[in-house]
Amino acid sequence: MYIDKEVIDKHLSSRTFRQVSEAADELGLEAYVIGGYVRDIFLRRPSKDIDIVAVGSGIELAKAVARKMGRNAHLSIFKNFGTAQVKLGDIELEFVGARKESYTRDSRKPIVEDGTLEDDQNRRDFTINALALCLNVSRYGELVDPFDGLGDMDRLTIRTPLDPDITFSDDPLRMMRAVRFATQLGFDIDPVTFEAIERNKERIDIISRERIIDELNKIILSPRPSVGFVLLDACGLLPIIFPELHALKGVETKEGIGHKDNFSHTLMVLDNLSRNTDNLWLRWSALLHDIAKPATKRFDQRLGWTFHNHNFIGEKMLPGIFRRMKLPLNEKMKYVQKMVSLHMRPIALADDEVTDSAIRRLLFDAGDDIDDLMKLCEADITSKNPEKVRKFLNNFRLVREKLTAIEEKDRVRNFQPPVSGEEIMEVFGLGPCAQVGAIKSSIKDAILDGVIPNEYDAAYQYMMKKAEAMGLKPVTK
Ligand code: CTP
Repeated sequence: MYIDKEVIDKHLSSRTFRQVSEAADELGLEAYVIGGYVRDIFLRRPSKDIDIVAVGSGIELAKAVARKMGRNAHLSIFKNFGTAQVKLGDIELEFVGARKESYTRDSRKPIVEDGTLEDDQNRRDFTINALALCLNVSRYGELVDPFDGLGDMDRLTIRTPLDPDITFSDDPLRMMRAVRFATQLGFDIDPVTFEAIERNKERIDIISRERIIDELNKIILSPRPSVGFVLLDACGLLPIIFPELHALKGVETKEGIGHKDNFSHTLMVLDNLSRNTDNLWLRWSALLHDIAKPATKRFDQRLGWTFHNHNFIGEKMLPGIFRRMKLPLNEKMKYVQKMVSLHMRPIALADDEVTDSAIRRLLFDAGDDIDDLMKLCEADITSKNPEKVRKFLNNFRLVREKLTAIEEKDRVRNFQPPVSGEEIMEVFGLGPCAQVGAIKSSIKDAILDGVIPNEYDAAYQYMMKKAEAMGLKPVTK
């Protein structure tokens, strides 16, 4: 790769790097900016955290830099790890001493010894993440690249600096990181490195679910997330970390009838959707929308393959999956559940004649998430038949137009029935009981079906009529 000195100089010209440089020279130690920050200079990506490695004490260097930066700099020292952090406004510098690390087999906690820059680079995950730029005045901006990380950037390759069995055994999370970087950057994983992932995949078990999910989320937020899932499947990590997704793979044929491969379909939906949204949870919804297809698959003589209720069963599977994977169990999960349970509705609508009442019900059930749901459903059209695709997209356009028209007219999105349960109880002198629930839901249905307008007086009169038919009389005050 051509080294654009000007670009490096521009990055290193900041006051911050000059201060690190002065402090390192005054302490008589070598200092380098290293890792992701340097990689991103060459890849012309925006970078955030700045990692500084000192050949000597990282903590002493951090203290000296913080002193130079003045009163507004905030220094934190993590003595146990031998690291320190200096923050000034939105600048964040991480300091560490160069180290030689060796790991025990069952834990990510290394035994750390002081080392040279090369020792430190040896122990990093990938060649592209092992690049270092010197900050000492006499060698300011000099690149140290012992593993041809620049060449790997040219070749678009993820490769470990050492024997990959050692690199992955030291820290098995790196297997996920390899897939994540390949997906984010559009790189390939070097075959030798890839084979080592296949060999070491079981070691992912010593990594916490939280760290795994962090990487998975980064894969999902990449421009084409399918790349990552295909790699996870190919190297054998997928069934270990996400068995439900792996179970979508495969095509069964009976009496000459096959069904589509739900794994590739799901990935296609995820890629389609990713062109239209950066919303992580909507992307998760795409990944999980057909998750119950294996559980609900039946072969029917008349209908062929069916997956009845896979949307509702899928919704019910999510808490188990979210809990195990340490995904949030709060409103984020509820949102994904809603998307999964409703993902068939707009398609069913577009198939049939689109009635106002069906549209009102959809608006009521989806609430403010209706636009997200429509995006998911459009992404769900993966037919190879262009005529079919055209028909679906056209029907969806009609559904969208109707949604807008009905919402403007009836305002049923997020609506609460205008007569409350409390009011029903008060008017008829009832406690909480089935009758109150029945009256309340009949009012809701009447509004959604367009029998009465979404207004208080109309709802009140409807309640009186309904109650009378049930033999109830208002109590007089
Ligand atoms: N690193 C490593 N092994 C890990 C994690 C990190 O060797 N399991 C090293 C790499 O040199 C990496 C650096 O530490 O470049 C910083 O790690 P991190 O901040 O996690 O990642 P970045 O490479 O900066 O990338 P991103 O910010 O996209 O996560």
